[in-house]
Amino acid sequence: MDENKARKLLAEAELIHSEATVQSALTQVASRIRTRLADKNPLVLCVMTGGVIFCGQLLPKLDFPIDFDYLHATRYGPETQGGKISWRMAPWTSVKGRTVLVVDDILDEGVTLAAVKESLTRLGAAEVLLAVFTDKLNGKTKPISADFVGLTVPDRFVFGYGMDVDGAWRNLPAIYAMKED
Ligand code: IMP
Ligand code: MG
Repeated sequence: MDENKARKLLAEAELIHSEATVQSALTQVASRIRTRLADKNPLVLCVMTGGVIFCGQLLPKLDFPIDFDYLHATRYGPETQGGKISWRMAPWTSVKGRTVLVVDDILDEGVTLAAVKESLTRLGAAEVLLAVFTDKLNGKTKPISADFVGLTVPDRFVFGYGMDVDGAWRNLPAIYAMKED
């Protein structure tokens, strides 16, 4: 995105969760993940690109053995047709028999992550758990729920902490909502 446009967008945006709130939620979610997975030697899969900040800050807080890899999936076709996804990059590491923790930025309608989970299960994962940093309160019935959630966000377009607006501002340490007009 054009630099001036990006700056204007941020200047007009509303702060939803400060950096301090984000970091405290991160600590709490890491602790819940630890309780659940410390003895599972999980395969952690970062969903690119949005999951990169959450995952990058989460991993150093997990003080137990893990394997790490990433996947990149995009949704195509109408959502009503079962949420087919196309893999831009499937995980290289075998998921067969593994406890897999999928890490992403946001659960919105849940179509993408539901399809990712289904694929990983089909590939032989023993168990697929889902960690999202944010869960959008959109009032919709989601085809999947997250096992671990950092924070909820309102039903608005949000950005920062991995989430982009037209490619910009994934790098922000806090979470903002775009101005509503
Ligand atoms: P869904 O859950 O299948 O609807 O799609 C989730 C994906 O859409 C996320 O991984 C994000 O990449 C993107 N997304 C959904 N809502 C937002 C938002 O408010 N800001 C930025 N990206 C979003
Ligand atoms: Mg995404």
